[in-house]
Amino acid sequence: MTTRRDFLSQAAAAAALTAAPASLLSASPPRAATRPVVIASANGLRGVKVAYDRIIRGTDTLDAIIAGVNIQELDAEDQSVGIGGFPNADGVVQLDASCMHGPTKRAGSVGALEGIATPSLVAKAVMDYTDHIMLVGEGAKRFALAMGFKEQNLLTEKTRQDWLRWKARLNPNDFWLDHDDDVAIKYSTGTINMNAVNAAGDLSSVTTTSGMAWKIPGRIGDSPVIGAGQYCDNLVGAAGSTGRGEANIKVCGGFLAVEFMRQGVAPEQAVLKTLERLAAMTEQRLLRPDGRPNFDIQFYAVAKDGRYAAASLYEGASFAVCDERGPRVEKCAFLYARGR
Ligand code: GLY
Repeated sequence: MTTRRDFLSQAAAAAALTAAPASLLSASPPRAATRPVVIASANGLRGVKVAYDRIIRGTDTLDAIIAGVNIQELDAEDQSVGIGGFPNADGVVQLDASCMHGPTKRAGSVGALEGIATPSLVAKAVMDYTDHIMLVGEGAKRFALAMGFKEQNLLTEKTRQDWLRWKARLNPNDFWLDHDDDVAIKYSTGTINMNAVNAAGDLSSVTTTSGMAWKIPGRIGDSPVIGAGQYCDNLVGAAGSTGRGEANIKVCGGFLAVEFMRQGVAPEQAVLKTLERLAAMTEQRLLRPDGRPNFDIQFYAVAKDGRYAAASLYEGASFAVCDERGPRVEKCAFLYARGR
């Protein structure tokens, strides 16, 4: 039988084993925010306002930012996400999304989800209703249908025409006739990432995308990968990414940016240092003659104390912010000036 003394000494030993060294968890964590702020990729300008207004009214940060990204998911004109998102090589729209809820330390994710317009909500349902974190493909769809999500055709006529144009131009010797129009073929890796902190310092993050246009069916990008497409630690901050997912996955960029902030690095330096690591991890075939990556990518970060920043590999990108000054677009910091 365990005596009270045994129990206390066992409990003390267990506590010593489970308590992580303070230095691992927090070198100098930002203090809690005193004012809410929501940031997103530039296509989230409408969404940051919706999310901010909800947070001010007391809505949970994750519910608020998911309402924010739902605007883009349901907007057929945004060809990087949800309905109207660019399809894969077979002409099928496959969506990825993930989210993290800081206060409860939970996460959810879906990959290669077909027929459901709001993968961010399905990712949250995985988080809320299952013991799992990631569901992909047919299983993710069956789960979504079981949760009451409605199946719909996500391929709009505009996006179908773009896909046909891409397909026709793939090979001059096949049996598809090239279109003689001048419409450029897009190779989008657009996405929406949104991060928020409320006045209590509670944080959340979400990323949702249709992924790389014309991808090989089944390809999953960084967006559904917790720690790459987005990451949130309620002690420190939240971060996420848009752009070439294959590059981000290799550096776990969402996690890395939060870890830099945990070490006391300011958000702008945190996202720039993440980009430096990503550039250093870029394989030779993706480097320009000057040694820089031949693609672009952005990182966005919010610290628990309300400081925020975004940065892009190349000069010229912008991002969306909303705080007590209202919704606006700000310029991203950058690693490389254009033309130099
Ligand atoms: N960052 C979006 C993707 O690569 O799928």
